[in-house]
Amino acid sequence: MNVAIVGCSGMGRLHAEMIARCGLNIVVCADANAEAAEALAATCGAEVSTQGKRALARKDVDIVLIATPTPFHLEYILAAAKAKKDIFCEKPFCRTVDECKKAIAAAKAAKVKLFVGHVVRYFQEFETLRAQIAEGKIGEPGFAKIYRGGIFPGGGKSWFANYKMSGGVTLDCMIHDLDWIRYVFGEPKRIFGQALMRGGDDPMDYAQVTMRMKNGLIATVIGTWAHPSGFRVKAEVCGSGGMVHFDSADAPLRAQKRDSASGPNMIVPGSPVAESPYELEWREFIAWLEGGPAPRVNAHDGLKAVQMAEAALTSIQTGHPVRL
Ligand SMILES: NC(=O)c1ccc[n+]([C@@H]2O[C@H](COP(=O)([O-])OP(=O)(O)OC[C@H]3O[C@@H](n4cnc5c(N)ncnc54)[C@H](O)[C@@H]3O)[C@@H](O)[C@H]2O)c1
Repeated sequence: MNVAIVGCSGMGRLHAEMIARCGLNIVVCADANAEAAEALAATCGAEVSTQGKRALARKDVDIVLIATPTPFHLEYILAAAKAKKDIFCEKPFCRTVDECKKAIAAAKAAKVKLFVGHVVRYFQEFETLRAQIAEGKIGEPGFAKIYRGGIFPGGGKSWFANYKMSGGVTLDCMIHDLDWIRYVFGEPKRIFGQALMRGGDDPMDYAQVTMRMKNGLIATVIGTWAHPSGFRVKAEVCGSGGMVHFDSADAPLRAQKRDSASGPNMIVPGSPVAESPYELEWREFIAWLEGGPAPRVNAHDGLKAVQMAEAALTSIQTGHPVRL
């Protein structure tokens, strides 16, 4: 199968590595910035394009990877669906819930497959936590707490610092954990958020979201782009019979690395197992395209995660909890 990559920097480069590991062929690398497209194309012998929509519609393209800034996801999903290509879209699915709905409708109408890269569902640590909870090792879960901290991606001049584009740490980063909590504990009932958000040359964003889930569980998620160095993830779930927890700092095997594929301004967490969670996403997606089972995350999950992040951002702005 042949792939068109649209968005060739941080995640585009990381996915190019995974796509190659899975034995797929990258035929075109497209980016609004010609240098980014050229640099990635040179690593995989692909053609270069600055016209993403034209590139993805090529006859020889089967799959489109969308790794542009979030506000451009919808237009590329619509173009890919129109061209009848299957789609792998990075999270957040789209910038708003309305956009997610349009994307789902277009994929359905075109009968193409649409995957949203909620990669935390593929991390071994989080899978182990989920399995232990499902096996009843901690009894009835009552509290979940997740901290996800990293440096400010790209610094003050990047699109991440434009909160209208990125949605800040809440939409862009915390969404991983909002999705995982819904995956494990079901639907949220009420969301309350608070944040310290600052733009400019020295930006920071630190947000805390507390949710009451419909099953009664209380979940707290802290997401920050003000973590002093590297990347740190902590998760704990406490139940009637005990507690499970994970801290990326406790595990030397999970030492954080600056991934050469992810560029100079982004750090993605390392993984203790040989198979990268990003590669696992691709393997499940490919199996689905080949007639196998649907992946563990679908476009509706992507929409629900954006809905939770939107509700959190509304609460941050208004100071009031939001009912879902
Ligand atoms: N799953 C994860 O772990 C993870 C991590 C980081 C980012 N992301 C997500 O991946 C997406 C990309 O983030 P990134 O870190 O790679 O960003 P980035 O800024 O590193 O790269 C974005 C690329 O898209 C290009 N671009 C910008 N506008 C474009 C347009 N209209 N058409 C075509 N190309 C365009 C830019 O020139 C740049 O090369 C975002 O949605 C982000 O939230 C996911």
